[in-house]
Amino acid sequence: MLTSPQLSALQAIIPAERIHCDADSLDRYGQDWTRYTRPQAAAVVFPLSIEEVQAVVRWANAQGVAIVPSGGRTGLSGGAVAAQGEVVLSFERMNRIDQFDPLARTVRCQAGVVTAALQAFAQEQGLLYPVDFASSGSSQIGGNIATNAGGIRVVRYGMTRDWIAGLTVVTGSGELLQCNLGLNKNNSGYDFRHLFIGSEGTLGLVVEATVRLCDPAPPSAVLLLAVPQLPDIMAVFHAFRSRLTLQAFEFFSDQALTHVLAARQAQPPLAERQPFYVLLECELPPSADDAPVLQAFEHCLEQGWVVDGVLAQSQQQARALWRLREGISAAITPRTPYKNDIAVVISRLPDFVSWLQALLARDYPDFEVLWYGHIGDGNLHINVLKPESWELEEFRHACEAVNKQVFALVAEFAGSMSAEHGVGLLKRDYLGVTRSAADIALMRGVKAVFDPNNIMNPGKLLRRAG
Ligand code: MLT
Ligand code: ZN
Repeated sequence: MLTSPQLSALQAIIPAERIHCDADSLDRYGQDWTRYTRPQAAAVVFPLSIEEVQAVVRWANAQGVAIVPSGGRTGLSGGAVAAQGEVVLSFERMNRIDQFDPLARTVRCQAGVVTAALQAFAQEQGLLYPVDFASSGSSQIGGNIATNAGGIRVVRYGMTRDWIAGLTVVTGSGELLQCNLGLNKNNSGYDFRHLFIGSEGTLGLVVEATVRLCDPAPPSAVLLLAVPQLPDIMAVFHAFRSRLTLQAFEFFSDQALTHVLAARQAQPPLAERQPFYVLLECELPPSADDAPVLQAFEHCLEQGWVVDGVLAQSQQQARALWRLREGISAAITPRTPYKNDIAVVISRLPDFVSWLQALLARDYPDFEVLWYGHIGDGNLHINVLKPESWELEEFRHACEAVNKQVFALVAEFAGSMSAEHGVGLLKRDYLGVTRSAADIALMRGVKAVFDPNNIMNPGKLLRRAG
């Protein structure tokens, strides 16, 4: 809780109606989509301008109060959870799209702009903001930048990092920095922009961004393929990618499909069920001729990698196929899944998944384990579903015990312990799987430079010292 003098000093900066201390707001804004940590925020503030953000950061330094930045709160690693009496700084009301530059093809917007609004704005200009994920309707651009969000089109367009031409940030000590100024070429020393992208709010606050847009995507084909053996998915990937430009290459297990079909009361997409499915989207030539798509498909059938499949015949059917993949996360949310978001270099994926399958079958005999993810990026989401009779903490401990083996395997394959969900609170203790001791020491040093009083999202990404 804030003391009365702390609150009065805060009210001198932000009008009282934009400081919420009621239980409902503290609960709502104090957590993200993870459900493993109880929120305990002291207050939620809703600044309207960069000046107000700066003033709140200065106040927090003076008062020794920690800040948790809050966007759409769609994160899955506890990065936006306020569990230690922090003040939540919500960007919800800083949601203006400010300036579109048609020649540079950039748009400047405040941190609280919702991803789908940015995508819609780009479309109105005849352009595309190509970073896309199932939570686009809620996530905000500032949060996407803070977590370097990825999603379903990384195989074609890369991650959020690749689309940020400029950033305005307020550092943990309250300085205002303009990073890269929207320039294409700017070799003027350290590029702080890239430090802030993916920093999970631990160095400061992204308040504004200049985002790049691109040409709209060409016509595409969407296919769902049934694949009996998980490692064969990479052969399918190669067969399509060597013939066509992939827009997306996703996979999910039959168990994941079962959950999505139940949640959406939908029918199975193929006559026969198989252990795994690939959902892929590929660009068509200007003639919209789908012959190369069918050639790739037939090759995969001949090789036995794929045993059945469907090519969407309409936009509506394509959307229905996509919902089978994008709906998985929401479908299993009631089961409070323990999430793993791991990645290895794709050339090592067949070996990695063979080992991982054996390990999970051996060590998770009592739990339902679902596989899905962005396999074209080498990124697997392994979700363990909580049996209804288990307590949350007990379940988390059981999962973490097995995770030691999973992460040992990730380390052996030189992979990432968090491919796109970030580290936050939930994966913090596994940072050393992917980052060396020297890396982590330097990360602490960087944090101390930008946030000397450790008020920015403390305890996230890096364990508190001492
Ligand atoms: C997804 O790929 O569906 C998202 O990363 C969410 C999740 O992993 O559950
Ligand atoms: Zn994902």
